[in-house]
Amino acid sequence: MNYTVVLPAAGSGKRMKADKNKLLLELFGKPIFVYTLEVFQNDPACDAIWLAIKEEERGVIESYVAKYGITKVKGYAQGGMERQDSVRACLEAIPPCGVVLVHDAARPFIASRVIASLVEEAAHKGAAIAAVPVKDTIKKAAGGIITETVDRNQLWMIQTPQAFTYELLLKAAQSANEAGFIGTDEAMLVERIGHPVHIVESTYENVKMTTPEDLIYGKAILESRTQ
Ligand code: CTP
Ligand code: MG
Repeated sequence: MNYTVVLPAAGSGKRMKADKNKLLLELFGKPIFVYTLEVFQNDPACDAIWLAIKEEERGVIESYVAKYGITKVKGYAQGGMERQDSVRACLEAIPPCGVVLVHDAARPFIASRVIASLVEEAAHKGAAIAAVPVKDTIKKAAGGIITETVDRNQLWMIQTPQAFTYELLLKAAQSANEAGFIGTDEAMLVERIGHPVHIVESTYENVKMTTPEDLIYGKAILESRTQ
């Protein structure tokens, strides 16, 4: 089953505290987002890659796309204020397709088998998202006092990719926009219009490069892969 991938890459990476978009930071000489692009470039089931970017970063991003031979990049959309706006801009720009995958450009270590399972699930059921079981005990607190310990067996840490049929995600994204609803992932928008979202178990390696210590972990993952 083939798919189109949308990669939101128009953030600024404030929590990384770097002097530029964190996606341009290098791990062993290659920018983070290039690792992500290569996963999809090398997946025969991926038909097209679309990126949401900031206009002022277009030149530098295009130069890396050319340098690393990422021929599946079919277009760019202008990123928005919220990640959700960036994704919607891409969805409105891409040609209609069967399954669309949304994946953070900041998650370079996604496993191919997880992508394949997500696409399969989305094709049959409409919506599927990558997740891993919560490792820690999770509690709710108010004013520094525990109010509840949540049953860990029901908790998942949600990642991307998130896969959907194109019509479903476009409808959910446009409906959220009209209602002024802001979600932290695409699944929330689809849940909001009453469509069930299925979980596909992913890997703990599929971490998002968010804060400086994630770069240490990222380098360790890359090193472990070359051994
Ligand atoms: N993103 C985007 N448009 C935005 C905000 C984020 O395309 N308006 C992208 C980021 O580039 C990243 C992905 O969404 O690939 C996940 O977001 P996050 O990890 O939060 O990245 P940033 O928003 O860049 O980081 P921060 O929140 O620390 O500023
Ligand atoms: Mg952000």
